[in-house]
Amino acid sequence: MRRSTNRVNLDYKILIVDDEPGIIDSLSVVLKRSGYQFVGLTDPLEAIEKVREEKYDLLILDYLMYPIHGDKVVERIREFNNELYILLLTGHKDLAPPLETIKALEIQGYCEKGDRFDQLLLLVESGIKSISQMRTIKKFQEGLNKILQSVPKIYQLQPIDNILEDILAEILPLVNSKNAFILIDDITRISSGNNSIFKGIGKYKKKVADFMEMLDPELMEFIGSARINKKVVKLDKKVIIPLINEYLQDIGIIFVEGDDLEDGLKLLELYSNQASSSINNAFLHSLVNIKNDELNKTYDQLRETYMDTIEALRMVVDAKDIYTRGHSDRVAYFAVKIGEAFDFSKEELELLRISGIFHDVGKIGTSDDILFKSQKLNEKEYEEIKKHPLKGARILSAVSMFKEVVPIVKCHHERIDGKGYPEGLTKDEIPFLARIISVADAFDAMISDRRYRSRLKFEEARNQLIQGSGTQFDVEVVEKFIHQLSDFEQMAKEVASTFE
Ligand SMILES: [Fe+2]
Repeated sequence: MRRSTNRVNLDYKILIVDDEPGIIDSLSVVLKRSGYQFVGLTDPLEAIEKVREEKYDLLILDYLMYPIHGDKVVERIREFNNELYILLLTGHKDLAPPLETIKALEIQGYCEKGDRFDQLLLLVESGIKSISQMRTIKKFQEGLNKILQSVPKIYQLQPIDNILEDILAEILPLVNSKNAFILIDDITRISSGNNSIFKGIGKYKKKVADFMEMLDPELMEFIGSARINKKVVKLDKKVIIPLINEYLQDIGIIFVEGDDLEDGLKLLELYSNQASSSINNAFLHSLVNIKNDELNKTYDQLRETYMDTIEALRMVVDAKDIYTRGHSDRVAYFAVKIGEAFDFSKEELELLRISGIFHDVGKIGTSDDILFKSQKLNEKEYEEIKKHPLKGARILSAVSMFKEVVPIVKCHHERIDGKGYPEGLTKDEIPFLARIISVADAFDAMISDRRYRSRLKFEEARNQLIQGSGTQFDVEVVEKFIHQLSDFEQMAKEVASTFE
C-alpha cells in the first residue's frame, strides 16, 4: 500500500523555496519519507526562473525572504503560470500576508513552520489530491474536445474501412493505448454469409485470417458476452466495449489494450456511442447505394428492352412505307444540328435525338390504306393521319423514362400561328424542342421523294422554310437551321446513306 502511494507521489514534482537552508533540509527529510520528488532552492529569484523553465506541480514557499518576499514571488509567477499549486510557509501567524493577498494571488494554503511539519505534510497531501483531480478533469476535457473534433470526420461519407481506421486512430490517444481493434457485422453482406469486418491497429494491424489465429477462445467468449449483455467487459489491461446502434442493436465491439485504461474508460464509452452511429450511418448509405445500383441496373435493362421494342416498332413504321424509310433518322440528325446551334447540353441533344427518331411512331396505328394512298387524301383520311402525334405520345407514355419525349412527339405538327394539330397551340405554348422537330421534319419531307410528288431542290426547300418562318415555324429555329444549312453539303454527306 505504502509502495503504491510512493509510486503515485513520484508523478508529482515539488519545489521548496526558503532562504534558510536548514528548513529545506528538514522538509526534504519529511517529503522524501512520503515518497515525493522535489527540488530545494534558497534564492527566490532563481525559483521564479526555475518555475518558468520546468514543470512543477506544487510550490512550498517561505514568506519572509531576501531579496523579495514570498507574496512577490507568487505575484511574478502568476504572471505566466496560473496552474501551479502554492503553499505559503510563515514563521509566525502574525507575520502572514493579509487574507486578501492570499486570495488574490490564488495561494491555495499556508501554514506556520513547525518542528515536525505535520500540518504542512497534510496540506501537501491534500494539494496533491487536488492536482490529481484537476489532471483527470483536464484529461477528460481534452478527451471530450478530441471527440468533438473527430466526430464530424467519422460522419463524413466515406468507405467503412476508412471510418474504422479513423475511429481507431481517435481512440488510442484517449486512453494512451497503441493496440486496438474493431470487429463489426457487415449488414450489407449478411445474405452472402461473409458478414464480419475487422480492422486493427498496432499489434492488431493484421489481415482477418491472421487476426483470427490471434484470438483465443477465452477472448472470443468475453467478446460474445460484451455483445450479448451490451455491457463493457474489463479484463486485465484490456477492455471490450460493445457498439450499440440507435435501435439498441449490437453491431460489434471495440477492443482496446493499454496499461492505464481506467481513467479514459468513460471517454472511450462516450466515443464508442458516436462511433456506433457513424458506422451505422455508413452501412445505411452503403445499403442505399447497393439498392440504387440494383435499381439502376434494372432501369438500364428496362430502357434497353424498351428501346429495342420502340426500335422494332419504328422499323415497322419505316418498313410500312418505303417513302419514309430513313426519315426518322434524318429528322433526328437535323434536329440535333439545330440543337447544337443553340448550344444545347448533352442531355438536351439526346432528348432531341430520341424525339426525332420516335416522332412518327404513332403512324404504326394508322391504316396501310391511308398511309400508302397515292392520291390526295380526303378530309376523313387526313383527320385519321392527324391522330398520329397523339397515338405516338400514348405509346411513349407507357414508360416513364420517355416522359420528356412525350410532349415533343405530341406537338411536332403544331404551328406557331395555331393552325397545326392536334391542339392548335400557338407560339410559346408549343414546347421549344417540338418546334425544332417540326422544322427538321418539314425540311426532310421537302427534300425527299414522296409517292405524290418529287423531292424539292435544296434551294426551294430552304426558301419554303423561310416563307413559313413566323407562321408555320419558329423564327429563331429557322434562322439557326438556315445558318447550319450553309454546311449542307457536309451534312448531306454525313447522312448520305439514308438519302439513297
Ligand atoms: Fe409526323
